[in-house]
Amino acid sequence: MPDLLLKVARLEAEAKEVLRLELVDANGGELPPFEPGAHLAVHLPGGLVRHYSLCGDPRDRQRYVLGIGRAAASRGGSAWVHGSLCLGADLRCSTPANNFRLVDAGRYLFVAGGIGITPLLAMARWCEAQGKDWRMVYAARSRQRLAFYEELRAFGDRVQFHCDDEAGAPLQVGPMLAGVQPGTEVYCCGPAPLMTAVQEQGAAVLPADALHFEWFNAPPAAAAAEAAAAGAADGFWIDLQRSGTSYHVPADRSILEVLEENGHEIPFSCREGLCGTCETGVCGGEPDHLDYVYPPSQRAGLKTMLVCVSRARSERLALDL
Ligand code: FES
Repeated sequence: MPDLLLKVARLEAEAKEVLRLELVDANGGELPPFEPGAHLAVHLPGGLVRHYSLCGDPRDRQRYVLGIGRAAASRGGSAWVHGSLCLGADLRCSTPANNFRLVDAGRYLFVAGGIGITPLLAMARWCEAQGKDWRMVYAARSRQRLAFYEELRAFGDRVQFHCDDEAGAPLQVGPMLAGVQPGTEVYCCGPAPLMTAVQEQGAAVLPADALHFEWFNAPPAAAAAEAAAAGAADGFWIDLQRSGTSYHVPADRSILEVLEENGHEIPFSCREGLCGTCETGVCGGEPDHLDYVYPPSQRAGLKTMLVCVSRARSERLALDL
């Protein structure tokens, strides 16, 4: 449920097809703190809920700063923000939540593509304030699309910009990662081809748990593989511990769909395993985590699952519902 009422205090073009939004407490109060990597769930007209990363200074309790790109294939959220949102409007939002946490490390490399700069900018601000060793590579199709350019330029040579049109090619991930020192934590957010390249080529130089990703969309190859895996399974049963009912989840339905069909209201937003909204407690059985919120290194022993995409390895799953 939304629990903050925020007012749009600043709304302006930040870069080509990117808006900068500053939100303040509608009653003039101090805002809840947030960690770098955190996002807000913003409630938009028509029941839409969209998640946007907080990219301002985590120490600033007076405003939340968002950078919102206009999605080429918008399902309504970014199109409404770009076309209809006005200065002074009130927005209902969640308190900040974080699925993309910074682990404590000696040094960091941030790899941003396009609007994926937003969570990484908050991380860079935090690192700078903490005196951490960090650098960033920020790629965009053109200079006009580099959001928060002036703020990033103020970090000097810690930030390297790459514009595809000037370089004549997309960012080459291999050379970028070749010089990464052991002990570096890599955080990446951007379009799927960049993320996949960092994932695949990063694995050659760093341990898997030193690579961190925030996905905007399910990576195409992974989504296809998961769909095939789900289709090949026989389905499984879910036992709802609090209501005492059980349902069969067939191979072609998600747990979330089965719950909805049977009258259960489960909060959701992306329905793709990206946002964490549908997180549900697990009391028994073995979940098959297929989301993009929890990396494989964090899945062992998880007592929750994202029911829009995750399934079961056991014949039955007991859910805290
Ligand atoms: S609804 Fe977004 S992770 Fe399930």
